[in-house]
Amino acid sequence: MISIIQLNDISIKFDNKTIFTNYNNTFEGGKIYCITGPSGCGKTTLLRMISGLQKPDRGTVTYNNLKVLKPLRNIFMMHQSYTNFPWKNCLENVLFPVKYHAPKIHSSDNEISESPTRSRSRIKMFFKKTFLKESSNNNITDDNRDKAINLLEEVGLGDAIERFPNELSGGMNQRLALARTLMMMPEVILMDEPLSALDPQTRNKMQDLILKLHKETGNTIIMVTHDLNEAQKMGDVNIAFS
Ligand SMILES: Nc1ncnc2c1ncn2[C@@H]1O[C@H](COP(=O)(O)OP(=O)(O)OP(=O)(O)O)[C@@H](O)[C@H]1O
Ligand SMILES: [Mg+2]
Repeated sequence: MISIIQLNDISIKFDNKTIFTNYNNTFEGGKIYCITGPSGCGKTTLLRMISGLQKPDRGTVTYNNLKVLKPLRNIFMMHQSYTNFPWKNCLENVLFPVKYHAPKIHSSDNEISESPTRSRSRIKMFFKKTFLKESSNNNITDDNRDKAINLLEEVGLGDAIERFPNELSGGMNQRLALARTLMMMPEVILMDEPLSALDPQTRNKMQDLILKLHKETGNTIIMVTHDLNEAQKMGDVNIAFS
């Protein structure tokens, strides 16, 4: 099995609190990794470093042997706060990444290190361009729309496709974010406590849905959870932080 993500001698601290020191790990393609550990130990920080959103103080993260220096198209993160777009209804939320996923990264691009200021202005430019393109964007095919509706049904939001996030419960919002994540099924999915707001029965169903789609696509999933049973059920590999 090819190794897809590598963390090499990673060190990071915040306000003199050390989170990782010379941390190494390899995540192989096609597996589900479950990460458990007490609050504040650095689980989200780890996912953020893999996603390119957080730069380590020392060491490197590589994806297919390329340094990860910014968010990449093939690595999608479902955040702990499962942010949905409040001005878009459920269907538009699920279709959002189809329209606006990050531009393709070329290897030479990816290895260019950017200053935070330059990086911010590029992000601004990217959003300006993509929002201006919205009306002419034709990525939304009938197939994509059908797939999004199907996913909304699978997460139990089939009756809510025209409702907005502020009209949904916390658990429904989390399932909406899950549907948006599963819409793309990129090569790597990082999920930060993706099912934490769900009742046990719904949670069980969503675990089965993730497992089913993972089996179909063979992608890599790195998932943080506080639920040891969930880790046992889902993970090919379980990593416990202390
Ligand atoms: N950008 C930041 N600035 C300052 N401190 C930070 C930052 N990001 C994380 N931390 C600190 O790093 C530590 C680890 O945070 P992290 O969010 O990775 O924990 P976690 O394991 O995901 O916890 P939880 O289970 O509660 O979500 C915490 O003490 C947090 O306050
Ligand atoms: Mg966290």
